Amino acid sequence: MGSHLVVASVLLLMLPSAGFTEQSRPSYVLDIVPILSENCVGCHSIKNKMSGLRLDTYKGLMEGGKRGPSIVIGTKLESPIYLMVTGKMEPQMPFSSEPLGQVEIDLLGHWIDAGAPGPDGGELAANTEQKRLPKIEPTTKLKSQIFSLSYHPEGHLLAIGRHGGINLIDTTTGHLIAQFDGLTDIARAVAFSPDGKLVAIGGGYAQQSGDVRIWDITKRREILQIEGHADTIQALAFSPDQKILATASYDKDIRLWNTTSGEELQTLRDHIDAVYSLAFTSDGNRLISGSADRSIKIWDPNNGERLYTLSEPIDGINSIAVHPSGKRVSAGGHDRTIRVWELGEKNGKMSKTLIAHQSAILHVVYSPDGKKIATTAADRTIKIFDAETLDELATLDNQSDWVMALAFSPDGGHLAAGRFDGSLSIYDSKNYLDTFQTVGIARKSP
Ligand code: HEC
Repeated sequence: MGSHLVVASVLLLMLPSAGFTEQSRPSYVLDIVPILSENCVGCHSIKNKMSGLRLDTYKGLMEGGKRGPSIVIGTKLESPIYLMVTGKMEPQMPFSSEPLGQVEIDLLGHWIDAGAPGPDGGELAANTEQKRLPKIEPTTKLKSQIFSLSYHPEGHLLAIGRHGGINLIDTTTGHLIAQFDGLTDIARAVAFSPDGKLVAIGGGYAQQSGDVRIWDITKRREILQIEGHADTIQALAFSPDQKILATASYDKDIRLWNTTSGEELQTLRDHIDAVYSLAFTSDGNRLISGSADRSIKIWDPNNGERLYTLSEPIDGINSIAVHPSGKRVSAGGHDRTIRVWELGEKNGKMSKTLIAHQSAILHVVYSPDGKKIATTAADRTIKIFDAETLDELATLDNQSDWVMALAFSPDGGHLAAGRFDGSLSIYDSKNYLDTFQTVGIARKSP
């Protein structure tokens, strides 16, 4: 099977339009299913039948959607599916994400021109999981961007948010322990529950809907799916008593949910732009949010009341972090500045400020002992500061891409960084050496 693919891709590269011989014509199971399951079934399956189209079965692919058949057998240039992935017909597919690579487009085109043969004989569609490609393109396109990371409270597991779900890895061996799929689009937020039994994940479609799932990691099954936001989930946090899950969305709202029933408890509506970051104080009496509207808001999660607003930043906030004492919050965003406030009952007082990076700060975290602040920025650096003085302790520059996700291990011994290019590092927090071989997190492991 592996060799079949290699032959097919080599032929494609060398003879882009020369057609396929009978032996080398693309196979539905080996060539087409992987492309569709990687790029399309998130929106076109029995679960999410957008535009009436299912692409998770051969039958669905042939039947097409609202517009009629998506394939005209033998003629790719008349097949809506081909025209839509090449952008010749609007809207381009996959909808609102990166277009397919040329190799994938060519495979699809050749397969349609070759008569769009279905899963024949031994090629049972049910076997596609095992037969799924070692993908043809070796480059970054195959890795999913990492937008979120969360350490298990005991530190032995790390949840890595990726396209369609999370990978759970063992932090010492790097082995994949479990993976959870089914989330819509990229997992932009992930959080372990305080008891370490659950993991909450947030994704969703831009301008359509947020998608939140709660998985039980020991039973390895989904226990709750929460819908309610009108746009992607950007942040989520469990209350320390684990009764509330707070979610923040690009739709400007924060919602509080009962973690057992999934019932919505409150909608916190006061930000006037996307909410990118959320955290509870350790006593659970405050919820703090940071928004593109340049403000940080302090809420009482028990009644949903907004207590006060911190509005010194001069540009959008990307990330906030609450000090372990619960008495202090720091934030960073487009104005490149770390600001630290002391939180009072009725207002907050800015105590420290530092222009910390050359471009937008993407992430801010406190070490578990509260003595350090780590930040990442669009200048492709990670910096570590003394939390009291904001003196710079270390800079990890030359990051291969933006570090979108950053988390200290619960014992403070390590700092995990997940990047836009899909790579992951785990630095030891003494001398900041990468103790984890940088790996690509494939959307699906083979
Ligand atoms: C993020 C969600 C999403 C993804 C991913 C996606 N689509 Fe779509 N697709 C849509 C939506 C929404 C429509 C309806 C668009 C419209 O009518 O304006 C659609 C419509 C279509 C249609 C037309 C169906 C009909 O009869 O109306 C085809 C064909 C199609 N998509 C193919 C694909 C293929 C092939 C891929 C993967 C390469 C893909 N889509 C990935 C959301 C998606």
